[in-house]
Amino acid sequence: MENLTAVILAAGQGTRMKSELPKVLHKVCGIPMVKQVIHVVKKAGYENQIVITGFKEELVRQELDKEKVTFVHQEEQLGTAHAISQAIKEIEKYSAGYVLVICGDTPLLRSETLEKLTNVCRENNASATVLTAMMDNPFGYGRIIRDGKGQMKRIVEQKDGTMEELAIHEINTGTYVFSAEDLLRTLPKVNNNNAQQEYYLTDVFGLLIQEGKKVIPVPADDSEETMGVNSRIQLAQAEKILRVRKLEELMAAGVTIINPDHTYIEQDVKVGQDTVLYPGTILQGQTEVGKNCILGPDTQLQNVCCGDNNTLNRVYAHDCIIGNDNNIGPFVHLRPDTHIHDDVKIGNFVEIKNSNIDDKTKLPHLIYCGDSDVGKQVNFGCGTITVNFDGKNKHRCRIDDHAFIGCNTNLVAPVHVGKRAFTAAGSTITKDVPEKALAIGRTKQINRENWVKKDTYKD
Ligand code: UD1
Ligand code: CA
Repeated sequence: MENLTAVILAAGQGTRMKSELPKVLHKVCGIPMVKQVIHVVKKAGYENQIVITGFKEELVRQELDKEKVTFVHQEEQLGTAHAISQAIKEIEKYSAGYVLVICGDTPLLRSETLEKLTNVCRENNASATVLTAMMDNPFGYGRIIRDGKGQMKRIVEQKDGTMEELAIHEINTGTYVFSAEDLLRTLPKVNNNNAQQEYYLTDVFGLLIQEGKKVIPVPADDSEETMGVNSRIQLAQAEKILRVRKLEELMAAGVTIINPDHTYIEQDVKVGQDTVLYPGTILQGQTEVGKNCILGPDTQLQNVCCGDNNTLNRVYAHDCIIGNDNNIGPFVHLRPDTHIHDDVKIGNFVEIKNSNIDDKTKLPHLIYCGDSDVGKQVNFGCGTITVNFDGKNKHRCRIDDHAFIGCNTNLVAPVHVGKRAFTAAGSTITKDVPEKALAIGRTKQINRENWVKKDTYKD
């Protein structure tokens, strides 16, 4: 049986990030870099994942809580070979097969690239493959040293290279596939006799080649993909690359994006065919948008399930469900646990929280609706408020089908407005309203004739 095991290096602090947070937890398009790497690695078929942690380990573990990975602690960072050595016991469990080594700060690598690296290793019966890239400015990277025939001899680190070696532009990206057996045999032979007194994983290749084993450098098709993130500037560069990738993926699948420079869509978001996204659309988390919707301008959805044929203009919605054929906005806030059913009209300056709004109901202007169950074809007058909080507890309102809520009604919860009932404009409703009744909860109007005195005006 062939095991595929990935070891993800994530022990470093990432000093150049100037952050309290471990580098690999910084997010790119909404997903922490190390999580993104884990997802790509899984997609490439590496079913066992070992994450090497060190700096603020608890935070990394917490973030990867649901990922079913094995954590291995590296107390002191003595080099990349030392890091892998910490995982020897774990790797031995899956020794027949291949080990992928990858850094937790390379969020742009594609699963296809990792599959290729594995296939080249397997098909050539090689001991290892190294993903390489051509860099205009190779400073800081390990260089790939080849012999006259183009065969790889070894990797030389920046701090150990001669002038001649450092003039080489082909660099080591830090992503490798090893035959597990060869890695386990060679790793203990690595020493730290070098400029940085570190145990270099890259020394394993020289050792394998000396044994007469095959190590194959595999140039990346797209060197941009191999970029590691070391600073906030590179974080923003990576973000942009990943964002453009996501937007282009969606456009290729039939989504119209009016201005991709002003549209932000996180990795896990799904958008259906013929949906149009106007500038300022931000789709985050586990958001799903159906077909034929028009979103934006300036619409932000976080973990929202939004069906088909919806128009959302200047809407901020989080953790809620929107059915089909709804017309929402402008300037609407939909808060958690709201379920908008179908063909609902929600107009400007409306806030809805923890409520069910059934089909064909209208909330056109200036409304707060919280903790309420609203039936079908209900009409909310302008300025309606559900008074759901008594200072200690929240209470629910129930408003049944076809009810008509007059303008500026306060519905003091808990209260129930029956089917086809009316409330008069300006009412404060504190008692249940029976089906088909008209509730008037306001003082009677009194007109004082000639109340304005003659000497107070001129005409
Ligand atoms: C490494 C490679 C270099 C390559 C470059 C690509 C070595 C010796 N050199 O250099 O050839 O061009 O990556 O980016 O491997 N880490 C640990 N524990 C350690 C040391 C490192 O977990 O003890 C992690 C770091 O957090 C980082 C990754 O391994 O994510 C790479 O380590 P780093 O020290 O940045 O290696 P480089 O000097 O960049
Ligand atoms: Ca590095």
